[in-house]
Amino acid sequence: MIYFDNAATSMKKPAPVIEAVVEAMTSLGNAGRGVNEASLSASRIAFEARLYLNELFNGASPEQIAFTANSTESLNIAIKGLLNPGDHVITTVLEHNSVLRPLYEMEKNGVSLSFVPADDLGRPDYKAFEKMVRPETKAIVCTHGSNLTGQLMDLHRIGAFAKAHDLLLIVDASQTAGVFPIDVEAMNIAVLCFTGHKSLLGPQGTGGLYVRPDLPIRPLKTGGSGIKTFDREHPAIMPTALEAGTLNGHGIAGLRAALLYLQETGIDTIRAREQTLMKRFYEGVSAIPGVRIYGDFSTMDRCPIVTLNIRDYDSSEVGDALYTEFDISVRSGGHCAPLMHEALGTVATGAVRFSFSHFNTEDEIDAGIEAVRSLANM
Ligand code: ALA
Repeated sequence: MIYFDNAATSMKKPAPVIEAVVEAMTSLGNAGRGVNEASLSASRIAFEARLYLNELFNGASPEQIAFTANSTESLNIAIKGLLNPGDHVITTVLEHNSVLRPLYEMEKNGVSLSFVPADDLGRPDYKAFEKMVRPETKAIVCTHGSNLTGQLMDLHRIGAFAKAHDLLLIVDASQTAGVFPIDVEAMNIAVLCFTGHKSLLGPQGTGGLYVRPDLPIRPLKTGGSGIKTFDREHPAIMPTALEAGTLNGHGIAGLRAALLYLQETGIDTIRAREQTLMKRFYEGVSAIPGVRIYGDFSTMDRCPIVTLNIRDYDSSEVGDALYTEFDISVRSGGHCAPLMHEALGTVATGAVRFSFSHFNTEDEIDAGIEAVRSLANM
């Protein structure tokens, strides 16, 4: 099977990630809950994973990284834990439902929303940020990379804007963490939300958020913390403040190994490889009559995603045909990014998304191009 659904989850994981999870399943205790070797080992592994994440994102300290199950949980914590009735938020039409749905929920509680539009190539209108800012604007919530088109957001530009207007910048790095440079300090990011199972190459059920040290967030969950047992309130100290209950220690062990793999391989090397494969695929399919590609390919500095439709075929049928006839896995239909589909005009058809990993090969790319050609000729 050829796997081109890496924007949904990276299926092929580095061998040390698998080994670390297996090893953890036989040896790990509960982090922060004891002084036996099994518990201490879990604490050490979690601490080292925080350390490597903090280094990767240029954070202020490892304690500011809290673990969650995925980006959706992180975004819910940030959005519901920081916004209050009366606040105004600027977001964009590029967003995934993991941003949109918590924001819509807050809208019912008195938070107002403005949406930065995009053109028909999915490029955001950066000038709109300036027009939307109001005295009660509290935050910008935006993705770093569209899961539908692969469009990158210029976080240096948005971060400078947030700083100039004293706004909190909350970033969804689901598609970019582990493959694009992210510097929370230089980009003025207040909260960075990430998942472990995509380009960070860790297991599903891992993720987290980096929180700027001066920023207390109301937790979504309270409960067991391993410290301050006799206090009635959940401890406010990070990362415990946002980590009630037992951590996914086995998953975090895999994530730690994945972070070491990324350090050794280099995210610049991985990104260059993925963008080379994307360019090869883009050039191959864009030459095929009847293929419509979405997004801006005037630059290849974009997430390694090519999204397309073939003639007037339903995208789900194309996805099925790719799998059943060519053994190629993609994502088709709607992609949890309803406003982006509206901007692209793909609400009715959905779209077929090919998303690449550095583990893919040129032969797989060429097989993908030939499969698209064959379907377009039907
Ligand atoms: N958010 C993931 C995707 O884009 C699941 O496919």
